[in-house]
Amino acid sequence: MDEAPGGKQPTPLPDLAASLHDVHKNYGEASTLVRALDGVDLEVRRGELLLLVGPSGCGKTTLLSVLCGILDATSGAIEVYGTRVDQLTQEQKTTFRRDTIGFIFQQFNLLPSLTSAENVAVPLLIHQVPWETAVSQARETLAEVGMEDRTEFFPEKLSGGQQQRVAIARAMVTRPRLIVCDEPTAALDGTTGHMVLQVFREKVLTSERAIVIVTHDSRIFSFGDRIADMRDGRILGVHSQQEHAVIEERALQIAGRQKAGQP
Ligand SMILES: Nc1ncnc2c1ncn2[C@@H]1O[C@H](COP(=O)(O)OP(=O)(O)OP(=O)(O)O)[C@@H](O)[C@H]1O
Ligand SMILES: [Mg+2]
Repeated sequence: MDEAPGGKQPTPLPDLAASLHDVHKNYGEASTLVRALDGVDLEVRRGELLLLVGPSGCGKTTLLSVLCGILDATSGAIEVYGTRVDQLTQEQKTTFRRDTIGFIFQQFNLLPSLTSAENVAVPLLIHQVPWETAVSQARETLAEVGMEDRTEFFPEKLSGGQQQRVAIARAMVTRPRLIVCDEPTAALDGTTGHMVLQVFREKVLTSERAIVIVTHDSRIFSFGDRIADMRDGRILGVHSQQEHAVIEERALQIAGRQKAGQP
């Protein structure tokens, strides 16, 4: 099931899905200089769901973009499944991204004039898979995320959670080894957000894949294997879900507040 499209034989996978070492990313220059990434060190293990959390503007989206080679880092080493992404040419980056990485953006970015199945088929069409085969594989992937009864619906006829599941299916359809996702639950209510994270854990995560999810949403922290805390362009620490819960509890006690979503 996790075979790449076109029936390529999988090669042995390294234990690390991705790593960033001393990565810097500056935007602008002189008076407009922003150090969006200021020495990021981070490892993503194969088989894990890593949550990346931190305040607005701390560099989370920039980190994901640099990790995937959508944006060039100013300096530092970025490796995904043993390939130094920062050393690839733009053309190689595009191919590598297409074959290895699935993205889910905050705005679902579904094409409004295509059905769910057609939207999910798009990445396969980019892989030169014939239309009929692509749509048929898209329907199978939609069924994996519980959307088999909505394959012929247009996005506007779907709820936010259903649109998000279509976006997840679209990211999964080429069987990428790394899935990155920016704020998947931002626009969803608590129950729908939980359901979407359950889909990630139960249907998307495998031992041959890693998932990195950026989130502000403390209601979904319990779904992460580990949580990376980001501030001001740096990773402060990476904790297990249990450690993170203790740290969060202490911080809230000091601040005299309760966890979001609690009375
Ligand atoms: N294209 C750009 N040009 C200049 N500065 C930028 C650009 N994109 C982002 N920035 C700045 O870089 C910093 C990090 O931005 P980024 O979007 O990565 O933050 P974020 O953690 O994803 O925030 P949010 O949680 O609000 O989405 C911010 O200060 C932002 O203003
Ligand atoms: Mg962002």
